[in-house]
Amino acid sequence: MLNKAKKVDIIFSPYSTAPYQVLKEHHKENNKAEVIDRILKSGLRGRGGAGFPTGLKWKFAAEQQGDIKYVICNADEGEPGTFKDRKLLTEVPRKVISGMAICAWVTGSTKGVIYLRREYKYLIKGLEKELDIYKQHAKEIGLNFDISIFLGAGAYVCGEETALIESMEGKRGEPRNKPPFPIQKGYLGYPTVVNNVETFASANMICRIGADEYRKLGTDDQHGSKLFSISGDSPKEGVHELELGMTLEAFVAEFGDGDTKAVQVGGVAGFCIPRKDFKSAVIGEGNTTGSSTMVFNSTRSMYNVLHNYLEFYAEESCGQCTPCRIGCQQLLKGIEAVKTGKKSPEYLNQLLKLADTMRITSKCGLGQSVTNSFSSIVNNFREEMIY
Ligand SMILES: Cc1cc2nc3c(=O)[nH]c(=O)nc-3n(C[C@H](O)[C@H](O)[C@H](O)COP(=O)(O)O)c2cc1C
Ligand code: SF4
Repeated sequence: MLNKAKKVDIIFSPYSTAPYQVLKEHHKENNKAEVIDRILKSGLRGRGGAGFPTGLKWKFAAEQQGDIKYVICNADEGEPGTFKDRKLLTEVPRKVISGMAICAWVTGSTKGVIYLRREYKYLIKGLEKELDIYKQHAKEIGLNFDISIFLGAGAYVCGEETALIESMEGKRGEPRNKPPFPIQKGYLGYPTVVNNVETFASANMICRIGADEYRKLGTDDQHGSKLFSISGDSPKEGVHELELGMTLEAFVAEFGDGDTKAVQVGGVAGFCIPRKDFKSAVIGEGNTTGSSTMVFNSTRSMYNVLHNYLEFYAEESCGQCTPCRIGCQQLLKGIEAVKTGKKSPEYLNQLLKLADTMRITSKCGLGQSVTNSFSSIVNNFREEMIY
């Protein structure tokens, strides 16, 4: 547990062609297994929110049989309050592309796609230039891995890896049943690694500095550094790279405005931590690995915050499964009814049960995670929910 928020500079450290140097050095030594081992040992977990160990994903993908495999960089970045992938693709795209190429090389993939959020269309020109530079480096070492860009259509659910794949295949962006997982049967039925933008950039840096160096940062539970998109009532809004494992108290001391009442960790899919828990709560431990960190001071109505989240969920639910399609709407109507006195405060208990039922019965992470913010706000700020 870290009692101080510590800024680090790994992912945004300056570079020129160094990211491709890393790829070339490992490629020359032909040490695929060692690279996978290095990522495994580093303890790197996916930075897209679910926190799956990256080394394990790459190892499973490498073990899949077949000549055609895909590597997809998930740059959909639809979680409210998250804007770090945009910064990475703008400032250090080479680290991301090189991370993708290292992944492709060790897993035996020949095709890559950057799935870009539609609102980031303006980044395409710069990325295409970077891809031209990448091609020259790939050619020099004879790496057969082509990367193209696919523009999303602006749905939050399409950030979910299987909905993303469906949309790339020209279908409605709806999550698939899992298993099979994308590494078994992904894009067009081929084994597919889907990783977040930051995961690829971090993997590139781990290949450069080594697993031991990376593991020196963090705690026994969380290793390395991570980007945080900080917004709300903070004098230091923006993207900050911080050592993992800090308490909310340490975070608020650095990024709060002196009057912080709650922090939403991991976006709307994450938890809202109240002031009384700042000392004991550690960012990332049991409260998702997403980047979005929204700071609320005492002038904020937590009813309005929750209302805003539920409007978002009701709008973004793809409607494929009933618990989520109907549940999101009912939670929204329910808190409105309690706030206007049409329902008694006890009705909140029924809504909490509904949210928990959604966690168990919804098909994908969208419906499953509504309960995180819902229950943490209703339980901790109950007095603000009632008439
Ligand atoms: C509703 C929903 C939206 C998601 N949006 C994103 C996203 O924008 N970017 C992302 O990397 N992962 C997103 N994810 C997580 C992906 O499904 C997947 O776990 C991730 O891309 C895997 O990469 P990682 O292992 O590097 O984290 C989302 C998941 C859900 C359920
Ligand atoms: S949980 Fe929601 S977003 Fe996910 S498949 Fe079901 S309806 Fe669609």
